[in-house]
Amino acid sequence: MAQALFFSLELSLSASSTFSICSSTPHFLSKNSTFNHLTLSFKPLKPPKHLHFHLKPISSHSNRWSLRGTTALVTGGTRGIGRAIVEELVGFGAKVHTCSRNETELSECLENWVGSGFEVTGSVCDVSVRAQRERLIGTLSSLFDNKLDILINNVGTNIRKPMVDFTAEELSTLLATNFESVFHLCQLAYPLLKASGAGRVVFTSSVSGFVSLKNMSVQGSTKGAINQLTRNLACEWAKDNIRCNAIAPWYIKTSMVEQVLSNKEYLEEVYSRTPLRRLGDPTEVSSLVAFLCLPASSYITGQIICVDGGMSVNGFYPRHD
Ligand SMILES: NC(=O)c1ccc[n+]([C@@H]2O[C@H](COP(=O)([O-])OP(=O)(O)OC[C@H]3O[C@@H](n4cnc5c(N)ncnc54)[C@H](OP(=O)(O)O)[C@@H]3O)[C@@H](O)[C@H]2O)c1
Repeated sequence: MAQALFFSLELSLSASSTFSICSSTPHFLSKNSTFNHLTLSFKPLKPPKHLHFHLKPISSHSNRWSLRGTTALVTGGTRGIGRAIVEELVGFGAKVHTCSRNETELSECLENWVGSGFEVTGSVCDVSVRAQRERLIGTLSSLFDNKLDILINNVGTNIRKPMVDFTAEELSTLLATNFESVFHLCQLAYPLLKASGAGRVVFTSSVSGFVSLKNMSVQGSTKGAINQLTRNLACEWAKDNIRCNAIAPWYIKTSMVEQVLSNKEYLEEVYSRTPLRRLGDPTEVSSLVAFLCLPASSYITGQIICVDGGMSVNGFYPRHD
């Protein structure tokens, strides 16, 4: 519609094998796309005074679905969902830095990744400790030239017990690991994300941040806080073109839930509560994270998306078939 208002379009046959566009500003098609035999030229008409569309160049399909040239920090990338995210982002062309507490496991992962030609570096860091978070972001700044395109706050932990049985120490552990670390890492990373010009943050929530799950009052509250932080930062940082979204998984096959799911009866109950009747795989989460980082999702911010086989929308749906 805007194009019809502002431009007259001329099409002519040409022997040239390159698609060329001659126009005065604004350009709305990228130059040098391959398109045989056609030369398009756009002549600006006088726009009506009350219309001020800002026409942006349409980037090519391959640019919208690529992370080539971007840098990313993924916390907790040696196992489970974090590891799948590292590999997914690298697959889309990003340079990734990750961290975890266990040095041996981190070294093994780095050796594997580098051996496979992946651009991944890593630091030993316990993100629940303030000084270690500061050191991590310091390392990142020098590694990525004071600029970070993608921050994936993946680390989180769980202590399952009735709320009244929580000790002060257990409460602090969950708050420090699941919320305070994320909050502070965002503060520390903000100047680097701003310098990117198109920063993206993905938080790791959980369905426990939406619905009540047995013995998970504290963990669920930390994820609820993450959900609200996602919405607030999406609005607060929109001026810097930093997008903030969250993913909220249900049971995903990782070391964190291995023990609770080793109980067959419990596992059956999980299946029966999940419309897709199965657990999720870490790669089914990492693909959503990658999408939220890609230019293809550039108009999505402030959203918390469940990856849960339908669990969070399941009301009452008995199995008759
Ligand atoms: N799996 C699920 O069913 C599920 C469901 C909902 C939400 N989630 C969320 O998804 C995220 C990842 O869970 P996951 O299941 O993939 O966990 P996981 O299998 O236990 O892996 C956790 C990763 O984070 C690292 N890590 C843990 N604590 C850390 C700390 N304090 N500092 C630095 N690194 C740390 C671990 O390495 P080290 O131990 O060596 O530090 C490991 O690399 C969490 O936020 C979790 O709440 C998971």
